[in-house]
Amino acid sequence: STLINLLEIDGVMLPVISKEIWARVCNFQARPDDLILATYPKSGTTWTQEILDMIHNDGDVAKCQRATSTERHPFIELTFTHKEKLDLDWANEMPSPRMLKTHLPSHLMPPNIWKQNCKVIYVARNPKDCMVSSYYFHKMTSMLPDPKSWEDFFEKFMAGKVVCGSWYDHVKGWWAAKDKYQILYLFYEDMKRNPKREIHKMLEFLGKTLSEDVIDKIIYHTSFDVMKENPMANQTGVPTHIFDHSISHFMRKGMPGDWKNHFTVAMNETFDKHYKKKMEGTTLTFCTEI
Ligand code: A3P
Repeated sequence: STLINLLEIDGVMLPVISKEIWARVCNFQARPDDLILATYPKSGTTWTQEILDMIHNDGDVAKCQRATSTERHPFIELTFTHKEKLDLDWANEMPSPRMLKTHLPSHLMPPNIWKQNCKVIYVARNPKDCMVSSYYFHKMTSMLPDPKSWEDFFEKFMAGKVVCGSWYDHVKGWWAAKDKYQILYLFYEDMKRNPKREIHKMLEFLGKTLSEDVIDKIIYHTSFDVMKENPMANQTGVPTHIFDHSISHFMRKGMPGDWKNHFTVAMNETFDKHYKKKMEGTTLTFCTEI
């Protein structure tokens, strides 16, 4: 079976095969020039990765198409094997400078990443769209358990009984962590509304400058419509028994606001009430449409 083992660490269900692998994740040896892209699942990881790779390669599209997104930038903790190798081993063998991805909550990050003072870019997405995106992803991948009905998934998501744990804890944990470490905290909706401004934030954080022409090229190459057709980014290279694109595409809608097609009025009221309670006292705010 391709169903991935979910190991419960500190009450968080993580896509980690075994305790032994988790021990290796905890002992992960970072390098000071590692760039870490951290997200809660379905928050725009693949998109941001593509932007960062284009920045790294000064807008050279061919260089960004050297391999699939998973091969270019492995997940630290996701122990799904590709080309016979764990992501972790893939990461260990990569030459510097590396870009690595993670869905870990901030408090479960390998401590060496903080010790080496690595730069981290965190991307958060509003929970309503994140939930819808995750529901379709669960349906199309054989790695994750069947989400059952949309109503079931809605409850599980709010309760945090999903892969990588509670969305609320994730976004709040990273929001707090940004005051302690080198973390640039970005939002999916901002990237959608004004990609140029967000790319400038990334450039400043990375201490890099690019011409406006190159930035425009990056915006074009990483737009939803272009990425959807890019075989090195759209995940169509993943075998169909693992990602079944006939059920739902990985590049599904790429727009804020699709939750409106899925939340009933009653669900929305329930959600908003729960959200208010969970997010009480934080300065973190989200927009659910643009
Ligand atoms: P939807 O399912 O709402 O369409 P991740 O990469 O973290 O798994 O996130 C996947 C989500 O990001 C999907 O959301 C996907 O369509 C969206 N996405 C991928 N590339 C994008 C792009 N270039 N612009 C906007 N959204 C994008």
